[in-house]
Amino acid sequence: MAEFEVTPWEVSGDIDYDELMKRFGTTPIDDALIDRMRKYGEPHLLLRRKIFYSHRDLDKMLDDYEKGKGFYLYTGRGPSGMTHLGHLMPWIFTKWVQDTFGAHLYFQITDDEKFLFKDDMSLEQTKDYAYENILDIIALGFDPEKTHIFIDTEYIHHLYPIALRVAKKITFSTARAVFGFQNSSNIGQIFYTSIQSAPAFLGSVLNGRPTNCLVPCGIDQDPHFRVTRDVAPGLGYPKTTMLYCKLFPSLSGGDKMSSSSPDATIYTTDTPKKVKKKIGRAFTGGAVSVEEQRKNGGNPEVCTVYKYFYYMFEEDDKKLRQIYDECRAGERLCGQCKMELTEKINAFLQRHQENREKAKDRIEEFMLRD
Ligand code: TYM
Repeated sequence: MAEFEVTPWEVSGDIDYDELMKRFGTTPIDDALIDRMRKYGEPHLLLRRKIFYSHRDLDKMLDDYEKGKGFYLYTGRGPSGMTHLGHLMPWIFTKWVQDTFGAHLYFQITDDEKFLFKDDMSLEQTKDYAYENILDIIALGFDPEKTHIFIDTEYIHHLYPIALRVAKKITFSTARAVFGFQNSSNIGQIFYTSIQSAPAFLGSVLNGRPTNCLVPCGIDQDPHFRVTRDVAPGLGYPKTTMLYCKLFPSLSGGDKMSSSSPDATIYTTDTPKKVKKKIGRAFTGGAVSVEEQRKNGGNPEVCTVYKYFYYMFEEDDKKLRQIYDECRAGERLCGQCKMELTEKINAFLQRHQENREKAKDRIEEFMLRD
């Protein structure tokens, strides 16, 4: 069996995504489900390519939707640093769901979580990053009328009564089994999951009636939502619907782009020069020499540059196929792919950075306050 670990705080080893689904007990998104989504709008690239690949109860939520029961969206960010491309992926998809279904979105920024789980971070730092990250969220073009962003330490009096009801239903032994806490874990960490659960019920509380909630996010967050779903019926709320994506890889060949290796991570604020440098050093499926690659071809299956095209940066399926075939046949070398990817990412970041700049004057349009 593959050796890997995926928790909300750490990912290690080579992730076998099918095996992970089995471990967590989530359901694959199959072609029939994608076809069913087609009724509402052309499936997003991330769905079509099954990067959003697994779910909990999406079919049930669609049954309800067809009977006229709406839903709201919930997702989040733990502000421990600047935003990178991996974070944007589930948010871009969340925006597609918002646009397609006209759903409201609650966006939780967990400055408390990152304070509790990062030894070296102060509450002031996590708050500063919260506002930096919010610029990236707004820059993606969410609907200000339907998007409600909140920072835990600022909005806590609304979350706390819900979190308390959740916390009362979770024993220490469950929390330890799900998250692996030790005697040395601080007690804030043990309570924290109830804060991440709270927004899954916030929409119901604000609407004054049980309302379905859909959470698109990375599959690394599933442990929290297993707990959330377990306590939901006892609190009189529907079980939260989950839509999970695979993780956007790191440039060094690792399975998760993560701030723990900044040189293998592309931040939304990186300059074109930095992006070029980072991609220049990316792990590829190239052969040891040009001659050998011309002769035997490269291996796109293991290549991070190809994966970036696949995950986000080549929308055209035909062109993607062409890149794959040319690489395999030795007709295309790594330098060409790296150059094309650099151009695509820099064009994306240029637009994103312009929108991020404009977002500075728009924060209050999106904030959920008293
Ligand atoms: P955080 O800040 O680690 O990540 C924010 C979101 O980005 C996803 N993510 C990734 N997705 C694809 N590829 C990657 N390389 C990658 N790295 C991170 C995460 O799965 C997440 O969806 N505890 C949470 C904050 C949170 C939250 C939520 C997340 C609070 N409520 C509800 C999702 C849904 C956290 O620290 O996420």
